[in-house]
Amino acid sequence: MSYKLFPISLCLCLIHFWSQAFATTDILCTSSKDCTLPFNFNAGTSIVIHWQRSTSTGTIVVHSYYEGKDQLDFQGKGYKGRTSLNLEKVPTGNATLLLKNVQISDQGVYDCYVSTVEGKKEGSVNLKVTGKKLKIFLNCFQCNM
Ligand SMILES: *[C@@H]1O[C@H](CO)[C@@H](O)[C@H](O)[C@H]1NC(C)=O
Repeated sequence: MSYKLFPISLCLCLIHFWSQAFATTDILCTSSKDCTLPFNFNAGTSIVIHWQRSTSTGTIVVHSYYEGKDQLDFQGKGYKGRTSLNLEKVPTGNATLLLKNVQISDQGVYDCYVSTVEGKKEGSVNLKVTGKKLKIFLNCFQCNM
């Protein structure tokens, strides 16, 4: 490896580590349909899950789970009755969130924080919402690349 290339490969390596530690998944959903925001973790004891969304006006709680059940007292108004976890799969390490009747205004970055006695994991899902026609167009565009 030439000496000049060294900083570049170091930089790529750091980017690689960063993306492993905090993975962002892009999800494309169709307006007015149901949408799943995927997130998996290593199963453990005392599972705590927080799905949150950061906006220009602050952080909105999208869905929380601890002490073995959903905890929705602090849930953001716009998400009432629209979110659910698969409660049977949570203990197996699946924190995938179902968001019903997705709207253009739901677009944005959703952060998921999970902790158990054994460890912690966090990640982001970048949700994009489109009308039906645009989604078909984007899918075609992606498969042609
Ligand atoms: C997690 O649960 C969701 C919804 O129940 C399911 O679609 C998905 O396949 C599951 N993921 C894994 C890795 O089991």
